[in-house]
Amino acid sequence: MSPESGRSKKDPSLRLFFGDLRKMTSKEVADGEVSLIVTSPPYFNAPFDYPDLFPSYEDYLELIRSFAAQSRRVLGKGRICAVVTDDMLVNEGNGGRGRKYPLVADTTRTFLEEGLLYRDKITWVKPSGYTRISRRSGVVLQHPYPMYFYPDNIQESILLFQNGEFDYSHLKDAPQEVLESSKIDTARLNDEGWNLTVWNITNVLPRAGRVEEGIAAFPEEIPRRLIKLFTMVGETVFDPFAGSGTTLKVARELGRRGIGYEIDLELKDVIKKKLGLDYNRWTGEDFTVEERGGVRSLRKSLQTKVQRQRSVVR
Ligand SMILES: C[S@@+](CC[C@H](N)C(=O)[O-])C[C@H]1O[C@@H](n2cnc3c(N)ncnc32)[C@H](O)[C@@H]1O
Repeated sequence: MSPESGRSKKDPSLRLFFGDLRKMTSKEVADGEVSLIVTSPPYFNAPFDYPDLFPSYEDYLELIRSFAAQSRRVLGKGRICAVVTDDMLVNEGNGGRGRKYPLVADTTRTFLEEGLLYRDKITWVKPSGYTRISRRSGVVLQHPYPMYFYPDNIQESILLFQNGEFDYSHLKDAPQEVLESSKIDTARLNDEGWNLTVWNITNVLPRAGRVEEGIAAFPEEIPRRLIKLFTMVGETVFDPFAGSGTTLKVARELGRRGIGYEIDLELKDVIKKKLGLDYNRWTGEDFTVEERGGVRSLRKSLQTKVQRQRSVVR
C-alpha cells in the first residue's frame, strides 16, 4: 500500500518536526509518502487564539498556498487532505463589529488552484449553547430592527480535497489481515451519522487547566472518523499544523503512522503530555523529534495578547 516514498518500515512510527511548514523539504516528508492529511490551519488573526499573528490577510493566504502545494507533494495519488477551518471575524476597530474573512472560500480556491480536486465538504456542528467568539445575535436583541442581525456561529467546515483520482485496485493488493482490521463499522457509521454531510460533535471545551489551553484544538472524534474512513492500518497520517497533537494521538491509537509539523516550540511539552511520550528518549526507535528552520515561540505571547484584548472588552 505504501507509495514509492523511499521510506522503510524501520522508520519510526511517529516523526515530529518543529519548524515552519513553508520550509519543509522532501528530506523530512518524502513525495507521496502520506496517505491522509488531517489538520486545522491557524484561524487567521482570530481574536481568541491568534491575534495579529499575520501582518495581513494576504500573508495568511500565502501560508495556505504553501500548505496546499506541500499537500499535493506529500500525498499519495488519489489520497485525501482534510482541512478543518472556518470564516473568521477579526476585530479591526470598525465600530466593534469586526470584519468577517472568507477563509473557507479562499482555502478552497487556493487548493483548487494548486491542483487538488474538491471531493466534499462536511459541516461540523457544535452544541447550540456554544458561541465562542461573540454573542453577535445580541445586537438584534438590543436593536430589534432590520439590519442589526449578525448570527452566532456554531459550525466549522471540514473541507476534503483529493490528490487526483484514487486507484481502487490498490486495495486488492492489501494483505487480508490489513483489510480486515481496516474495515469500517457500517452500523456505527449509520447510527452516529458519519454518513451525512453534517457531523454533530461536541467541541473541546475551554476548561482551565486542560492540556490544550490556548490552542484551537479540535475534538478527537474528527480525526478518528477521518482516519478510519480514508486510511488502512499501517498507513501514514500527516498533520502539518499539529498544535496539541490531536491527530497524531488518534493516529497512534488506530495503528497508523504519524508525522507532525508545528512552528511553536512551546507546544513540545503539550504534545508530549497528550501523546504520553517520554522525551528523555528523543531518538528512541518509535518516534523522533527534530527542530527545523523557522521554529518560533508563540504561545505565551499570543496568550498575553488574548488576555489584553479581553480586559479591553470588559
Ligand atoms: C488551529 S491550531 C491546530 C490545533 C490542532 N488541530 C489540535 O487539535 O491541537 C494551528 C497550529 O498551527 C501552528 N502554525 C502556525 N503557523 C505555522 C507554520 N507556518 N508552520 C507550522 N505550524 C504552524 C500554530 O502554532 C498552531 O499550533
